[in-house]
Amino acid sequence: MTAVLGRRGIAQRGDCDAAEARRPLIPLLASLLRYATNHVVSHLPSHTARQWWYRRVLGIRIGRGSAVDLGCFVWFFGPSQIRRDGVHIGARTKINRDCCIDARGPVTIGDNVSISPSVAIITTQHILGEPGFPLQTKGVVIEDHVWIGMRAIVLPGTNIGRGAVIAAGAVARGEIPPLAVVAGVPARIVSWRPETAATYQFEGLAELFE
Ligand SMILES: CC(C)(COP(=O)(O)OP(=O)(O)OC[C@H]1O[C@@H](n2cnc3c(N)ncnc32)[C@H](O)[C@@H]1OP(=O)(O)O)[C@@H](O)C(=O)NCCC(=O)NCCS
Repeated sequence: MTAVLGRRGIAQRGDCDAAEARRPLIPLLASLLRYATNHVVSHLPSHTARQWWYRRVLGIRIGRGSAVDLGCFVWFFGPSQIRRDGVHIGARTKINRDCCIDARGPVTIGDNVSISPSVAIITTQHILGEPGFPLQTKGVVIEDHVWIGMRAIVLPGTNIGRGAVIAAGAVARGEIPPLAVVAGVPARIVSWRPETAATYQFEGLAELFE
């Protein structure tokens, strides 16, 4: 009985040891994946290769006819986390060069959305009032036909309604109503887009060396 228990004990400890040995490997693999994504793959001059990686390796869902241009920085913990939280880019949507997509939380981007260069979409922040500097994620939703101007920042928890426009350099947060044009820091409504303006279908977005 003792011997059986002993063997079992050793076997169990062996399993634990193997799990312990694997544990440091997981963060290392995740770091390697992040490095490969943001310093190698994002600079490959092929939309097909980049999208293959974003879809198959990271688990980002990208609709037909969409383009993620060169230099996009995808912020993530790991591919299983992205699959769990869900990062969706609709059809015929353009994400221009050097954008940052914080995929540590859920991100939903609709169809025919235009995201200008160097825009940052952020889903994660630190909770200021709690000890330990803990992280908190809040999803971002960007509906169809939104246009986000250059270098705008979209903060965690922002919902941008259909056809809205975020001006260049604006800091968007909270609820942005459909067809609103918002500008400034924090972004406030400066005008409205006519309903008829948000009806286009983008085509041919994936251009060579973009
Ligand atoms: C948002 C935008 C389209 C608005 O254009 P518009 O409808 O012609 O608006 P106006 O120029 O009449 O400005 C309306 C008000 O918003 C303000 N405003 C416009 N853009 C602003 C900006 N980026 N930041 C701060 N305020 C801005 C104007 O000062 C004006 O305020 P006022 O009425 O107090 O004078 C434009 O300003 C913008 O930011 N375009 C983005 C360009 C870009 O990123 N291009 C790259 C990709 S193609």
